[in-house]
Amino acid sequence: MPELQNKRILLGVTGGIAAYKAAELTRLLIKAGARVQVVMTQAATQFVGAKTFQALSGQPVITDLWDDASANGMAHIQLSRESDLVVVAPATADFIARLAHGLAGDMLSTLCLARSCPLVLAPAMNRQMWAHPATQRNVRQMREDGVAVLGPDAGEQACGEVGEGRMLEPVGLYNAIVAQFTPALLANQHVLITAGPTLEKLDPVRALTNMSSGKMGYAVAQAAIEAGATVTLISGPTCIAPPAAARVIHVESAAEMLQAVNQQVPDADIFISVAAVADYRPQQSHVNKLKKSDATLTLTLVPNVDILGQVAQLPNPPFCVGFAAETEQLLEYGEAKRKRKHLPLLAVNRAQDALGSDDNELILLDDNGVHPLAKADKLTLARQLITHIADLYTRSR
Ligand code: CTP
Repeated sequence: MPELQNKRILLGVTGGIAAYKAAELTRLLIKAGARVQVVMTQAATQFVGAKTFQALSGQPVITDLWDDASANGMAHIQLSRESDLVVVAPATADFIARLAHGLAGDMLSTLCLARSCPLVLAPAMNRQMWAHPATQRNVRQMREDGVAVLGPDAGEQACGEVGEGRMLEPVGLYNAIVAQFTPALLANQHVLITAGPTLEKLDPVRALTNMSSGKMGYAVAQAAIEAGATVTLISGPTCIAPPAAARVIHVESAAEMLQAVNQQVPDADIFISVAAVADYRPQQSHVNKLKKSDATLTLTLVPNVDILGQVAQLPNPPFCVGFAAETEQLLEYGEAKRKRKHLPLLAVNRAQDALGSDDNELILLDDNGVHPLAKADKLTLARQLITHIADLYTRSR
């Protein structure tokens, strides 16, 4: 079933250049099965035409408090009652200020005030406007009022300046919206996740690594956040963006990953080891670049510590979940690995399918047996995995 099937989302668009990103967000929401009613402020229509949102949402767009669309002239009450969630993206400094003061001078602010469903704001503004004490005060007020404030991101801004104030990308917002509808299966739990490859240096310019992209680990982090967990993500080098709400610790080698895990594990309730940790490292990491010669070069590799194996053997370990990428005999090798590492749960996949691709197939192995998860994109699989983990974890306590 699509993730947002029949969810009624009221998407408010206010007057900022990031309004164009709201068009893509509308498309994602519609694709996920949501019913989207777009409400624009007058200023927003200066940036993107209402017809764009009408075409994408399949619904007439509301721009005016005095619209005739509602028979009894109570559109603000009716619209807010009909919604499961109100999302304002982009939310300008001016709009947030008006909400913080409970003002209701136009259709969008009126229905934000009249709503009984949750409200999500995605601020977008110039970095100085965002940093201004008045804006910060207003955002604090919104949070105190129970409003979810997503972002903003830091980076290059439409005005040419660089700093915090960019609206989150549509996919990030979409994931956060899905999270609003996800049961908080891991509320108050701290989930520690390792992801990506490790990189074992041979000299300053050469290293041994593997083809892990980090996509599965980052998807698991996203799914855990959606389930209400606090997530610490220890990541080897990747080219992808981690979930905005994760606390990220970047590492390179297996030794650095081990050190970071050891520091974090005392606070972790659940440890999910998705990283493709190098089993070996060069015995010697040369300070200067190795020079070539005509002779054969033999590298001596020494084993790295098995991070997951070590955590699972702690006197009071967190709930440990392993991953295994195998090229053959998935079930036999997977189950042997699970037993060897003393894990309540291990997710096994075919290495050929998993590495770098967007889709995957997982088989979950636990004390109750074998649970195959059908081929899907990695975030979908990660959500199913987190549901399974939450179930086992709850029962184990
Ligand atoms: N793992 C780890 N530290 C290592 C090696 C592996 O924490 N030094 C973790 C991985 O993150 C994964 C699980 O152990 O969750 C299995 O990793 P995998 O590489 O498939 O298994 P290995 O134990 O290394 O065995 P092999 O490479 O022989 O299949």
